[in-house]
Amino acid sequence: MVTTCMSMSILLLASAKAKLPKSDMDLLEFPLNLEYLEAEFFLYGSMGRGLDHIQPNLTGGGPPPVGVRTANLSPLVRDIIAQFGYQEIGHIRAIKSTVPGFARPLMNLSAASFANVINNAFGRPLHPPFDPYANDINYLIASYVIPYVGLTGYVGATPLLQTPTAKRLVGGLLGIESGQDAVLRTLLYQRAKERLIPYGVTVAEITNRISELRNKLGDAGLKDEGLINIDVGGEITGNILAANDTYWLSYGRTPEEVLRIVYQTGKEQHPGGFFPCGANGTIARQYLKSAK
Ligand SMILES: *[C@@H]1O[C@H](CO)[C@@H](O)[C@H](O)[C@H]1NC(C)=O
Ligand SMILES: *[C@@H]1O[C@H](CO)[C@@H](O)[C@H](O)[C@H]1NC(C)=O
Ligand SMILES: *[C@@H]1O[C@H](CO)[C@@H](O)[C@H](O)[C@H]1NC(C)=O
Ligand SMILES: *[C@@H]1O[C@H](CO)[C@@H](O)[C@H](O)[C@H]1NC(C)=O
Repeated sequence: MVTTCMSMSILLLASAKAKLPKSDMDLLEFPLNLEYLEAEFFLYGSMGRGLDHIQPNLTGGGPPPVGVRTANLSPLVRDIIAQFGYQEIGHIRAIKSTVPGFARPLMNLSAASFANVINNAFGRPLHPPFDPYANDINYLIASYVIPYVGLTGYVGATPLLQTPTAKRLVGGLLGIESGQDAVLRTLLYQRAKERLIPYGVTVAEITNRISELRNKLGDAGLKDEGLINIDVGGEITGNILAANDTYWLSYGRTPEEVLRIVYQTGKEQHPGGFFPCGANGTIARQYLKSAK
């Protein structure tokens, strides 16, 4: 009898997986790209080692990230970022336990890759180039670049999901990504008025510029806001969380918008930035194919 029950539950599990419509499968595998990126950036940044050392079977044999390093962090920030890293391992595991997914894509997490983002945000090259791994504040600014994009992607996916399995998974992932974004924004907000050495620009202004860049690359209107609002009258108000302030709901982005941002090219057909060979999964690959 025990065997029967076991095989029945295996059957049920297998059929639950098989029942996911193709559109849910595609929407669930897409964020694996960003989860890989976050996992490697946070694990290496805090501990100097990534998936290859901590959970090699989650890489699927994909190439190791380029240029990622241990960051020079204080004990508090190191502790928080290491926890984020382990949360991302869980997310990769969660997605891969629901859909087949794909192997870790090639990612460029070099200092130069982040420096490019900051240069683009300022519209000119900074001297010396921004180094995400130099200290707490630089690493927090670099981190501001990522989980929020994942968050908007999850919000954007929710109305398109069909099954309870997919909705439950995305709801759970979204909860943690927005928690991470809130922690990062709070740590940055505490230092919002500080001027970043040696550029002399405040932390708040840098977040505003990164958010403006993402709005520009995403090319779908206002979906991103820095730490400080400056209204038309010049009045400055805090903006600890980013949302549309009519209903205070999070902004959502489509996979296309997410790709334009993480490729840093503004085009879902043109890979680059953090994903030099493009992101993987049905949705991302279809644009790369159509570009050829
Ligand atoms: C991956 O490895 C861990 C232990 O390192 C193991 O618990 C887990 O079952 C493995 N997962 C797969 C999918 O092989
Ligand atoms: C995408 O994922 C599939 C499945 O893991 C793999 O065979 C393929 O090489 C990947 N493509 C790229 C460009 O990473
Ligand atoms: C990583 O990005 C930097 C900055 O764009 C670039 O110089 C370098 O060639 C890239 N490396 C790879 C392997 O794509
Ligand atoms: C904010 O939400 C309201 C209500 O849904 C909508 O009318 C408005 O266009 C939104 N504004 C932005 C900037 O997204």
